[in-house]
Amino acid sequence: MIHNQIIIAKTPESAGRCAAQHFRALMQTKPYCVLGLATGSTPIPLYRELIAMNQRGEIDFSTVRTVNLDEYKGLSPEHEQSYRYFMNDNLFNHVNINKANTFVPNGLAADVGAFCLEYEKKIEELGGIDIQLLGIGHDGHIGFNEPDSFFPKITHETQLTEMTREANKRFFDGDIGKVPTAAITMGIGTVMAARKVILIATGKDKAEIVKKSFFGPVDPQVPASILQLHKNCVVILDEEAAGAL
Ligand code: GLP
Repeated sequence: MIHNQIIIAKTPESAGRCAAQHFRALMQTKPYCVLGLATGSTPIPLYRELIAMNQRGEIDFSTVRTVNLDEYKGLSPEHEQSYRYFMNDNLFNHVNINKANTFVPNGLAADVGAFCLEYEKKIEELGGIDIQLLGIGHDGHIGFNEPDSFFPKITHETQLTEMTREANKRFFDGDIGKVPTAAITMGIGTVMAARKVILIATGKDKAEIVKKSFFGPVDPQVPASILQLHKNCVVILDEEAAGAL
């Protein structure tokens, strides 16, 4: 049984604006909300819209807490391709958020196992995630949960597939050798525990995996397919990403 609401917007920008409306509705009604955030090129139009809404005084980040999905292992927060740097650069530096209330997995954690448990505890202490934002990889990965024989439950260390490193090398001077081989990511269980999930996919290169994820069987080889079972998941596509439906 598929519970997802699927919205087809015209362009990546209108998909971002549509997602921003969900965030605005939450932030206006729950000032201490917890936002689960994502990186990649897909959420950039959404972040631009949230910045504009903040500048117009429509949304206030001063009491908002955020938790990010994932981080490359081995990259420091200052590294320009780290997800902490991405979040500062694309959102946090431009809105009235208290950075002490923003959490991104620590790619330099000495004891990764202990860190992952702490991250789960932190999410729980914050009261759980109100909206978890997701993009989607070409192999159906969400966060850095790659295709596997099972759905990983909690935050964990993971090895990146060749396909993912190939797709992400564009951020590393086109050199796959510079793309980290491992990451720390929320688990599928962490994502599924969010009260609401918003997945955005844009561009024709996402059309096939969108179809497979939301109209194929629920299968850990297509990690995003689990979202079919989430009771409150909104999938926002542009026309190109909806092209195979
Ligand atoms: C990375 C991130 C994912 C993201 C995916 C797609 O692998 N870990 O969270 O969804 O890339 O990125 P893009 O939006 O750039 O296509």
